[in-house]
Amino acid sequence: MASRRDFLALSAASLLGGGIVLSNSTRIRAEQLKNEPLQEKLAADPQRPRYHLLPPANWMNDPNGPLFWKGQYHMFYQYNPNGAFPESMHWGHAVSPDLVHWKHLPIALAPTPGGSDKDGCWSGCAVVEQGVPTIVYTGVFPQAQCIARSDDGMTTWRKYPGNPVIAAPPQGMETTGFRDPCVWREGEQWFLAIGSGVKDQGGMILLYRSGDLSHWDYLHLLCKGRKSELLPGKDPVSTGEMWECPDFFPLGDKHALIVSTQGAVVYSMGRYVNQYFHPEVQGKADLGDCYYAARSMVDEKGRRILWGWIREGRSDTAQRAAGWAGVMSLPRVLTLGHEGALGMAPASEIEALRGKHHRFEGLPIVPGSFSLWKSVRGDSLEIQAELEPGASEAVGLTLRSTPDGKEQTSITYKRTSGQLLVERERSSLSPGVDRGSPGGAFALAEDETLKLRVFLDASVIEIFANDRACLTTRIYPSRSDSLGLGTFARGDKARLKALDVWEMRPISANRLTTKFRPPPNRLSQCENEEGLEGFATPGNNRAR
Ligand code: FRU
Repeated sequence: MASRRDFLALSAASLLGGGIVLSNSTRIRAEQLKNEPLQEKLAADPQRPRYHLLPPANWMNDPNGPLFWKGQYHMFYQYNPNGAFPESMHWGHAVSPDLVHWKHLPIALAPTPGGSDKDGCWSGCAVVEQGVPTIVYTGVFPQAQCIARSDDGMTTWRKYPGNPVIAAPPQGMETTGFRDPCVWREGEQWFLAIGSGVKDQGGMILLYRSGDLSHWDYLHLLCKGRKSELLPGKDPVSTGEMWECPDFFPLGDKHALIVSTQGAVVYSMGRYVNQYFHPEVQGKADLGDCYYAARSMVDEKGRRILWGWIREGRSDTAQRAAGWAGVMSLPRVLTLGHEGALGMAPASEIEALRGKHHRFEGLPIVPGSFSLWKSVRGDSLEIQAELEPGASEAVGLTLRSTPDGKEQTSITYKRTSGQLLVERERSSLSPGVDRGSPGGAFALAEDETLKLRVFLDASVIEIFANDRACLTTRIYPSRSDSLGLGTFARGDKARLKALDVWEMRPISANRLTTKFRPPPNRLSQCENEEGLEGFATPGNNRAR
């Protein structure tokens, strides 16, 4: 059974050698999807988030084709209906009226035996062409670009008979990959950016143009990476010789290019002139180890909203045993930030989930003492903390702590080295979970306080720091009393200026999906109040 690493290695090998085919698991095992014991197990799984979007079961990775259409937020994602492992990619589909509550819809795309996507429908985007929603995605193997259209309000999708619409990279170009199209409109023309790269040289983005989404002309490179940025590694994605999931869009008076490579989402802000992109400022969209393959949408308010795949931090075996893997991040509203960097803030709609509120103010934090708040505990919280580091070496929050501290996780600002980290050595007593301390460079100005906004949702931690850094990671506490919350300082004392904690309301009663019921005329196939349609025979709804 393929691990994620094998999966990516296969995709690289397919470009070099051609003809490598994944196992014949494209057949959907409907019996597993209807499996009631699995539903019960997932509903009771304490590691499963309660207010993040995730499929009803099984494997998900990248967000695909996020699209605001006719008053609803549509989200597609890479999905394997056969289990919690990365094979036979389909496009899962969910819809939301408010960015928070989701309803699962039938699978949008499934591989067509003998078709150009016979081994998987990989990542891509969705646009609306003359009122017709159209998905542009990568079929494998070999990697080629395909399209599918919907005539019934995005319930079923019809694949274009002329697929693939772009069969291969430009002639004579030896690439490390050719996937994950991003399409946008300029005047009367469509433009398409594809993630690619060249061995020993770096990632690159190929730019195409079309009048109708079906016929494309290659123009030139939109931009390319530098050899000096490559890291040692085995496959082109980990070295940086391949850029996955490009997302390209205007932001303020600049343009942003986002790519995923080397385990991170990397952004460049710059100028887009005569169809060439000139990067000026670069950075990471997330300092953590679990945020990847980000893609954005624009909504009716004109907000540019970014979504990412929050991957697991535990073994493949543990993922398969759990019956699910992968979570969608919370929506991040993008702005042109401080000194031309990418500004990110959680969409305000999430505040609708705030329940019971706790507030503390003006308390000293003394080094060496271990203390947890008595009145506030939980594994489903929004935490807003303002901390004054003073002369401490490090200051931060402790969460998911047992009363004895045997299990605990720290969100740590290391003042002396200028770093923001999540320390996970003691996050879990279980074997087989990641225990590293993901994070990166993050420094406060002399007179600046540390402003943390933390979304804790079972095994998911998403952190926004001072409106200019994000850090996403995973933890898997084993004890049911790992619910404590506290503050700490090291080296010297610090001060808690203010702490607000909200207990978050779940978006469903059972960690499976949401109670939201869309208007019946739009989504007639999705009757079940608890959203269990996601378990039912997705094969019936696959694209024709
Ligand atoms: C990124 C990625 C994409 C590819 C998809 C396959 O995580 O490797 O490049 O299209 O996943 O699931």
